Amino acid sequence: MIAHKASDITVTVVDLNAARIAAWNSDTLPIYEPGLDEVVRSARGRNLFFSTDVKGAIAAADIVFVSVNTPTKTYGVGAGRAADLRYIESVARTIAEVATTPKIIVEKSTIPVRTATTIQEILAANGKAVKCQVLSNPEFLAEGTAVADLMNPDRVLIGGERTPEGEAAIATLVSVYARWVAPERIITTNLWSSELSKLVANAFLAQRISSINAISALCEATGADVDEVANAIGKDSRIGAKFLKASVGFGGSCFQKDVLNLSYLCEHFGLPEVATYWESVVKMNDWQKHRFAGNIVKTLFNTVADKRIAVLGFAFKKDTNDTRESAAIDVVRDLLVEHANVVVYDPKVPAAEILHDVSGKGVTPNPRLSVASSAIEACAGAHAIAIVTEWDEFKTLDYAKIFAGMQKPAFIFDGRNITNLAKLREIGFRAFGIGK
Ligand SMILES: NC(=O)c1ccc[n+]([C@@H]2O[C@H](COP(=O)([O-])OP(=O)(O)OC[C@H]3O[C@@H](n4cnc5c(N)ncnc54)[C@H](O)[C@@H]3O)[C@@H](O)[C@H]2O)c1
Repeated sequence: MIAHKASDITVTVVDLNAARIAAWNSDTLPIYEPGLDEVVRSARGRNLFFSTDVKGAIAAADIVFVSVNTPTKTYGVGAGRAADLRYIESVARTIAEVATTPKIIVEKSTIPVRTATTIQEILAANGKAVKCQVLSNPEFLAEGTAVADLMNPDRVLIGGERTPEGEAAIATLVSVYARWVAPERIITTNLWSSELSKLVANAFLAQRISSINAISALCEATGADVDEVANAIGKDSRIGAKFLKASVGFGGSCFQKDVLNLSYLCEHFGLPEVATYWESVVKMNDWQKHRFAGNIVKTLFNTVADKRIAVLGFAFKKDTNDTRESAAIDVVRDLLVEHANVVVYDPKVPAAEILHDVSGKGVTPNPRLSVASSAIEACAGAHAIAIVTEWDEFKTLDYAKIFAGMQKPAFIFDGRNITNLAKLREIGFRAFGIGK
């Protein structure tokens, strides 16, 4: 977006992963996002370059955005909760090694609060006395609407040291965003507020989903309708209408990781009650995913063994091909444990990715799992359909035709509440939504 909006700024995207860089330089970008192809095409070769020359690009840069992955740690202290900062540290060491001119280092990755200190210490201990300023500039874009979010952000947050050097670095970064973002939308804070705000923003968003999902279960038990409840409470301006959509559960690479990281930080700083409070957001999400799969088994007369189940959608949400932490993974696994024959269809996720995500890297895929090339194909001969991703095309499928080709009774479980359950029931389906 910077390259697209500011033709006088040269942006070089570097990655150690050569295959990814090759894809960024090809006609098939490695990420599917509406509008992304146009943005890349507008600037690539002009002032936007993709390269594997990490050291060369760092040496030449005035500003370095550190955007590496910060996954949940899988080993040692904090395993399963803390952020793994090895990639951040490795970049800091590379910067220290190659920087010969002053630089502004921008934390773009989502990181635990006070990570800037780590970067500063590594630079100070290893650098060649080159003055670098570390800023925090967390990214708030949502996958699926990334280009629109970058083009027109609710806010840009920049944190830095409140010293003359820090203020100057902040002003430089503000001047980059000011090319296309209104000044009142650019917020500047101290470093720690900025670092923490990203984790807190994701925790609040995830909490809203877990809250409405918790209520969805109560709706099912009582005869209330979760969409009606969401509409009624969302009209309260203190609550607001957005992000109150009940579903099979949230996914994506960020929500779970960031909430767990926040919870771990609370514990680290001696606040176990706060840690437990936030951790419950993730527990509720896990419960909702398993509840959805469990409901399918229960409703299909307590057995799905050898029954064909069509799973529509595998990406963690529509308009992305990202499957990280997708609810579909847990739903499919639960159904396979019950010996269902699961057929998945997703318009953007390749078959190999689906098989790999469910079974694990290097593991022979479960023979009960297969991938179809259309929704119609997936549903043919199925006992039940589970809608797991809210792709628009699932709203307008010819459900009457699909029903005709299914085993009877034919079941449909809409994990995103995107279909008209009454119409599906008229066709003959036994239809179930979330919180309905
Ligand atoms: N994906 C999102 O929507 C999103 C939104 C906001 C914030 N974030 C944050 O941004 C960060 C990156 O997320 P992502 O989804 O792009 O992760 P990703 O895993 O898709 O990409 C990270 C890339 O960094 C590269 N890398 C790792 N170490 C490197 C090094 N030393 N030098 C050069 N390249 C290196 C990896 O090869 C990889 O391609 C995370 O901290 C994430 O929390 C992501």
